[in-house]
This record gives sequence, C-alpha cells and structure tokens, in this order.
Amino acid sequence: MKAVVYTEYGPPEVLQLQEVEKPTPKDNEVLIRIQATPVNYGDVLARNFGKISPRQFNMPFLLWFPARIAIGVRKPRIRILGAEFSGEIEAVGQAVTRFKIGDQVFGYLGQSFGANAEYLCMPEDGMVAIKPANLSFEEAAALPYGGMTALNLLRKVNIQRGQKVLINGASGGIGSAAVQLAKHHFGAEVTGVCSTPRLELVKSLGADKVIDYTKEDFTKSGETYDLIFDVLGKSSFRHWRSALKPNGVYLLASFKMKHLFQMLRTSISGSQKVLCALSFEKPEDLRFVRELAEAGKIRSVIDRCYPLEQTAEAHRYYEEGHPQGKVVITLDHA
Ligand SMILES: NC(=O)c1ccc[n+]([C@@H]2O[C@H](COP(=O)([O-])OP(=O)(O)OC[C@H]3O[C@@H](n4cnc5c(N)ncnc54)[C@H](OP(=O)(O)O)[C@@H]3O)[C@@H](O)[C@H]2O)c1
Repeated sequence: MKAVVYTEYGPPEVLQLQEVEKPTPKDNEVLIRIQATPVNYGDVLARNFGKISPRQFNMPFLLWFPARIAIGVRKPRIRILGAEFSGEIEAVGQAVTRFKIGDQVFGYLGQSFGANAEYLCMPEDGMVAIKPANLSFEEAAALPYGGMTALNLLRKVNIQRGQKVLINGASGGIGSAAVQLAKHHFGAEVTGVCSTPRLELVKSLGADKVIDYTKEDFTKSGETYDLIFDVLGKSSFRHWRSALKPNGVYLLASFKMKHLFQMLRTSISGSQKVLCALSFEKPEDLRFVRELAEAGKIRSVIDRCYPLEQTAEAHRYYEEGHPQGKVVITLDHA
C-alpha cells in the first residue's frame, strides 16, 4: 500500500511517499481504507520534534521528555503521521461485532498516528465510530481532534447558559471547535480571538463577537468574562485577570511551569482560578461528537485538500500559517 513515511526529523521534504506492507487485521481489529486525514498541529510537531527544545515546546518539560521518548529521541519511532481519519471498513477480524464491511467510519489515533496511508488497522473498541451521516469524508476526518479536545477541556469548567466565554486561538483546530461547543452546546455568549484573515471564519462558526489580536488587546476593552479559554497559552494570568469576572476561570490548553504554579496558588486563595487541563479522549467522546455533528451543533471548515502524494506541500501550507480552516489529505483508491 502507499503511505507517507518519514525516517528523520526535519522540514516537509522528509515526508516521502513509499510502498509499505498493507496491514492485516487481528481478530479484534478492523481494516480501514482511508479516505481523508487532516494535517494538525501534532503532525507538524512530530515531524520536526528532533528540533523542538523543551523551551520551544509549549508544555512543561515534564511533558516534553516523555513525548520525546514516545516519538523518538534521535529519529522518529513512528514512521507514518496522521492522527485523524475517515474511511470505510474493508475487512474485519473474526471476533469483530461492532462494525461490518462497508461501514463508513471516522476516528482518532492520537500520538500513535498512522493515518497518512491507504489503510490502517485498529481495535474495534478503539477511537473509531460510524461517520456522521451529514458530513463528507473530508469534513468528518477534520472533527475528532478539535471536537474531543475542546469538549473535554470545556467540560472541566461548569459553563452556564448565557455566561460570557472568550476563546483565544479561536480559528485553530481546538479553538474553532470550542467556539461552536461553547455557543451551540453550552449556550454561552462567545467572543473569539484570532488574526485578521480568520475573523469571518470565526464569526461563521457562531461567535457573537470577534477580536483581532493583531489590532486589539481585549484586556483593554473593559469587557469581563466568566471563562477565558487560552488554547496556545500565549499570555499570563497577571495580564488577563483584569478581563476575568470575580469568580472567573482562566483555562489553558497549553501551559508552562509558571501556569502550573498559578493554578496551585489560585486553588488555595482568591476567587479567580487558573486551570491547566489535559484532554484524555474516550471512544464515547467520539460518538458524542458525531451526535453533535448530526444535530448541526458542530462542523468542520475545510480550507483545502491535497492528494496523499502532496502531503509535504500540505505541511508547508499549514506551517506557513495560511489556513482558513482545516488542511486535509485525501486518498483516491482508484
Ligand atoms: N491540553 C491538551 O490536552 C491538549 C491537547 C492537544 C493539543 N494541545 C495544545 O494545543 C495547541 C494546538 O492547538 P491547535 O491544534 O488549535 O493549534 P492550531 O490549529 O495551530 O491553531 C492555533 C491558533 O492559535 C492562534 N494564534 C497564533 N498565534 C497567536 C497569538 N499570538 N495570539 C493569539 N492567538 C494566536 C491562531 O490564530 P490565527 O491563525 O488567527 O493567528 C490559531 O487560531 C498546542 O499548544 C498543543 O500543545 C493541548
């Protein structure tokens, strides 16, 4: 089968289209014929991980070290990237009961990656579910990572209907899902922060207000929020506490040691809280994201698609910061 393989860390050119062995499903596994797989923050990070120092890594050293071991110290241990996918069941192991041949599915592989290929095998009770009926393969493949991560992180804060929520990083993989969930699932009044080219995208996802961080510092607007969700951890509690309501929460998806100390301090004293949170996805989260999609409460916005053999170009386009939505690799099995 065709797959995009990398054997050394580096620029997009390290991604090479190669012929590799087609996997065979074990008794409890399904064989999935991949139709689409997006390029995410994690793919670009893993492709380049050899060059990412603990300081550049936007999580504490305590998470950088195990990630380096998992992904590979001197060179990548995982040779095929791609953490999200959609496709069709081509074969099932003899003990499989949840899926049948021809089922259209979508799913998430997390740090195991492996979707930048024509086929993949995974356990039937893994992060795979029937694809939302109202979405194309491309749209479905672009939902799990942002949808489940945003859902799990927002669930850590008890958002009430009508509360004011600000999302910094609102146009990205996690932020764009968070805008839709905060608005359409939790019923909050949502303000999305992103850069000029993506203001319309964030508005179209349901944000009541949008702020362009290249032109405006929202802490100076006098508005205050019940929740500030900072996807990239680009700022600090001290900078943002003036924009938080007395019992407000500053929720971080990316954080450093300083944020962890702030979380500890605010857990002891003061009414405003800092919350550094990690998302541990479960298969039922994926099924819930499907329900939200079929109810029209969450969707994915596709910027552009690339065929598998142009995966390097897709990484370059993502990395140059151009996307206005998801960049998706599509596979033409014909
Ligand atoms: N906590 C967890 O469990 C967890 C799980 C997965 C990932 N993560 C973390 O999430 C981050 C990746 O998020 P993602 O996939 O959403 O990334 P992404 O798709 O690359 O989006 C990044 C977003 O950040 C915005 N941005 C860039 N520079 C900014 C700035 N200076 N100020 C404000 N916004 C800025 C971008 O907006 P513009 O493009 O409009 O500039 C874009 O919306 C990583 O740090 C990763 O470690 C955490």
